[in-house]
Amino acid sequence: MHLTREEEEVLSRGDARSRALETVVKVGESLGASRLLDVETAHVSGVSYQTIGDAGVEFLSDLAASGARFKVFATVNPMGMELDGGETPVDDLFKSRQLEVVKSLIKMGASAWFTCAPYDIIRTPPGTVHAWGESNAISYINSVRDAMSEKLPGPFTILAAITGKVPEFGLYLHENRMPRVMVKVNGRITQAAAGIIGKMVGEFSGSRVPYVVVGPMTERAMKAMLASFATYSPNPFMVIEGVNPNWRLYRSEMDVEESLVIDEKDLRLPETRDFDAVFIGCPHADLDEVLHVAKLLEDRGYPRLAKPLFISTSRFVKSQLSPAILSRLDELNVHVITDTCPIVSPFLRNRGLLNIATPSSKSVYYMPRLVSLNAMPCEIDECIGDLL
Ligand code: F3S
Repeated sequence: MHLTREEEEVLSRGDARSRALETVVKVGESLGASRLLDVETAHVSGVSYQTIGDAGVEFLSDLAASGARFKVFATVNPMGMELDGGETPVDDLFKSRQLEVVKSLIKMGASAWFTCAPYDIIRTPPGTVHAWGESNAISYINSVRDAMSEKLPGPFTILAAITGKVPEFGLYLHENRMPRVMVKVNGRITQAAAGIIGKMVGEFSGSRVPYVVVGPMTERAMKAMLASFATYSPNPFMVIEGVNPNWRLYRSEMDVEESLVIDEKDLRLPETRDFDAVFIGCPHADLDEVLHVAKLLEDRGYPRLAKPLFISTSRFVKSQLSPAILSRLDELNVHVITDTCPIVSPFLRNRGLLNIATPSSKSVYYMPRLVSLNAMPCEIDECIGDLL
């Protein structure tokens, strides 16, 4: 691998950054990369105590104690509880170990937003290079903005944040971003239907990049489609006609080998059975999504919901909601939680909630597998209708 003079100099120092760069170079060599790229941002994943356990806590604590510091702006994925713990009960051991993780990340220089939608707070212009570890977010910046990130494992995002470098491989190379399959979607696209589209496109495309022709959809439907696609495909990038800023370039250069048509009849949801709670915010809800719920309740005269509705979002989004809206939502049994991903947290189970309805196809996939919850798809307007 070709290394620049600056990279050689960092390698010769023998400090924490030097050791991190050594690993990045070794990984790059094993991937056949010919050089390293400078990244603009990193997004660290794998930070919940539920998933990384004591070994992960020690790894981060040792790294921070060794003097490792982030070189580039780095955000962090949601973890297993809220920082102030209000709505997401966990036991004392979980809490103290999770807070150790937070302490280590902040010591290294992480920006403590704890969100899986960092694209809502970070500009990622076309062609810029990023080292992100959350698949929905990678899929979003690749597909909607034509920025570049590969799907990087959590520990590697930390090394990338420390060094500011990634090997040039996979989706960091223009030739690997060329669509090979075409998908045409007919019909109206709701949020939950968008999740089904993402699943179908992911399963059909496999590791090939799809070129997708689809009608207009809301931002929350777009996020749901890309999160689901990245769940079912190893490849976190689709070219969406009229959305990706370089879609004309991709269309003129692509060589399509197979096509799929998705019709409205393919997008029907199974009937929602009994559920204990509704969850939205996978990926983390943006302001529009929270306000959509507030508006639905306003249109119905502000009824108190019969079962709780949790909206998971970032501190950034929550800070834009007035205390009056938040307390009104709370009175209506709608709980806006931050910092947390229920797929890597025991909090729903700790609240005795085992059957969850959600418009997120990604949650439907992961809840049974990672936290042994029953999950069923629903359109948010209909779920709320069932709770009146
Ligand atoms: Fe975010 Fe967790 Fe879903 S990280 S995308 S809420 S699985």
